[in-house]
Amino acid sequence: MGFTDKQEALVKDSWEFMKQDIPQLSLRFFSLILEIAPVAKNMFSFLKDSDELPENNPKLKAHAVKVFKMTCESAIQLREKGEVVVGETTLKYLGSIHLQKGVADPHFEVVKEALLRTVKEAMGNKWKDEMKEAWSEAYDQLAAAIKAEMHAEA
Ligand code: HEM
Repeated sequence: MGFTDKQEALVKDSWEFMKQDIPQLSLRFFSLILEIAPVAKNMFSFLKDSDELPENNPKLKAHAVKVFKMTCESAIQLREKGEVVVGETTLKYLGSIHLQKGVADPHFEVVKEALLRTVKEAMGNKWKDEMKEAWSEAYDQLAAAIKAEMHAEA
């Protein structure tokens, strides 16, 4: 089954709501990543040398926002075109930066789990179970595109 209008709306609307508090969202997202996979810490230049998560760190926020925003864009493309279309240059860049930083396929599952838990918590009583499916699908397709580029380059 394709990605439906309703699924697109679930992702877009929840992102609109969540992006009102990026500092909190990005902090929670990274705490969950480190809780699920503590070894991920050393990959991120801005986490390596500190014991605590740096609050309001622009790079930490930037990565969190990129992951959420690109997953949201992925949802829109899935509904409109039936596939994720990341610009070729962007995809090449995404592939090489992640390879360079030592990211491997299993890490995408860690980030997915953290993303889904962050959405659920951030949405609070606005959370709906169908949101999980919609965010999962949009993320999986985006992650597959990035991983394919990583494999092509490796
Ligand atoms: C860098 C997006 C998944 C680790 C980046 C950058 C983007 C990005 C756009 C470049 C940031 C910049 O140059 O300013 C994404 C998206 C993902 C994803 C859309 C999933 C769909 C992951 C995963 C990991 C990861 C699974 C590993 C846990 C990193 C690291 C960097 C990076 C370590 C370099 C950050 C730094 O140290 O400055 N990512 N990423 N990313 N990403 Fe991801």
